[in-house]
Amino acid sequence: MGKILLTGATGNVGKHVATHLAESGLEVRALVRDPSRARLPDGVEVVQGDLTAPETLHPALKDVETVFLVWPGFAAETAADVVEAIAGQARRVVYLSADVADLQEGEQATIFHQDVERLIRRSGLTWTFLRPCGFATNTLGWAGQIRQGLVRWPYGEASRSLIHEKDIAAVAAHVLTSAGHGGAAYVLSGPERLTQAEQARVIGEVVGREVRWEDLPPEVAREELLAAWGDPAFVDGALRGWASFVTEPEKVTDTVRTLLGRPALTFRQWAEDHADDFR
Ligand SMILES: NC(=O)c1ccc[n+]([C@@H]2O[C@H](COP(=O)([O-])OP(=O)(O)OC[C@H]3O[C@@H](n4cnc5c(N)ncnc54)[C@H](OP(=O)(O)O)[C@@H]3O)[C@@H](O)[C@H]2O)c1
Repeated sequence: MGKILLTGATGNVGKHVATHLAESGLEVRALVRDPSRARLPDGVEVVQGDLTAPETLHPALKDVETVFLVWPGFAAETAADVVEAIAGQARRVVYLSADVADLQEGEQATIFHQDVERLIRRSGLTWTFLRPCGFATNTLGWAGQIRQGLVRWPYGEASRSLIHEKDIAAVAAHVLTSAGHGGAAYVLSGPERLTQAEQARVIGEVVGREVRWEDLPPEVAREELLAAWGDPAFVDGALRGWASFVTEPEKVTDTVRTLLGRPALTFRQWAEDHADDFR
């Protein structure tokens, strides 16, 4: 199997993909913006590059057969040039997308994934899309409030099938290192649904603290999230998303089990892995 280039290799998902691939003995290269800060497993070659400057990708793509592409949370302005650069030098791409297939234009801040998927479909590359539901890591944003024993957040009844980043990474590593995934779009989720209030309670149980939930009215939450996150489109998209999960709980899929032959990790297992982040 030819050389694999990882993007996002220092992120939540990518760092576990790097670990899997380093253990597999394959030739792996990681594209990072700042090699002096990147901590990657032994055996992973590190090269400097930036997805907002597509011309920096050419050295990173030399002799690469497959790219694991993570598009960080910014608009897809340079995506066409990035996909063209990949298609010019590699044969296959595995794209970390999102469960965006059914979204309407402008419905959520993750809409850029539809644009990137479209560019990849037209590129001539053999592609696989990983479309995870919500990441369990999103709840790290509550860490400060969990330490105080009270989470004030909107839509406590929003019901989500949060997925452990280790499961997304294990699926990515499986797809990157085995044949037969061309043209597949895998929707990935955790094994169960929990409401946001239940998620906060589980984290509290794991760290040994009683955690109460206070449902913030959406208009109050909007002001607070705007102050914290800045981007109105992102805030409004998140609020609409949580509101929708009250009436239409997030989907649960069996894809992790089907691909890996073991069940997806539970939210409690995720909280145990991250207990120190909440202490
Ligand atoms: N959170 C969710 O619920 C959710 C759900 C579905 C899909 N997703 C998608 O998952 C992706 C995020 O994955 P993640 O959480 O693993 O990532 P993450 O932890 O946010 O890390 C982002 C990664 O991207 C790299 N990066 C940032 N800007 C870059 C640039 N200009 N050029 C090259 N690399 C850059 C960072 O590397 P350096 O900083 O080291 O350069 C880092 O490795 C996003 O596309 C998001 O839309 C998220």
